[in-house]
Amino acid sequence: MKIAIGSDHGGFVLKKQILDLLDTLQYEIDDVGCYSLDSVDYPGFAESVCQKVLSKKVDKGILICGTGIGMSMAANKHKGIRAALCNEQFAALMSREHNDANILCMGERVIGAGVAEEVVRTWLETSFSGGRHLKRISLFST
Ligand code: RB5
Repeated sequence: MKIAIGSDHGGFVLKKQILDLLDTLQYEIDDVGCYSLDSVDYPGFAESVCQKVLSKKVDKGILICGTGIGMSMAANKHKGIRAALCNEQFAALMSREHNDANILCMGERVIGAGVAEEVVRTWLETSFSGGRHLKRISLFST
């Protein structure tokens, strides 16, 4: 499975930790940046990851900023993107089972690395349940 990952400066340190985890778990990775702690604007990184998911260059995306809020707002502007802000494991599980989330968002200033790693593992290993949830996600207007 190939994963695109992006962050702004507020998510940069957590992105590095999640990159190490993805590498250990042997996922293919496409890191779209940012590549330093210099202040940057998060919507561009959300755009890059969304385009890679929508064009099927990758299977799923991960976006990290300070809170995860800006990244999730920016990502969900794209038709076909279902970005879930998950700062704990239950949300990660349900966002895959019920919502077929294709992008995971997290906030570096909200969760620690240990919880974030569990969120990522759960999110990547959980399948969409389909069934009644398929109709529901098909009703999204964008
Ligand atoms: C950057 O300071 C911060 O606003 C950004 O990382 C994010 O939290 C926005 O939602």
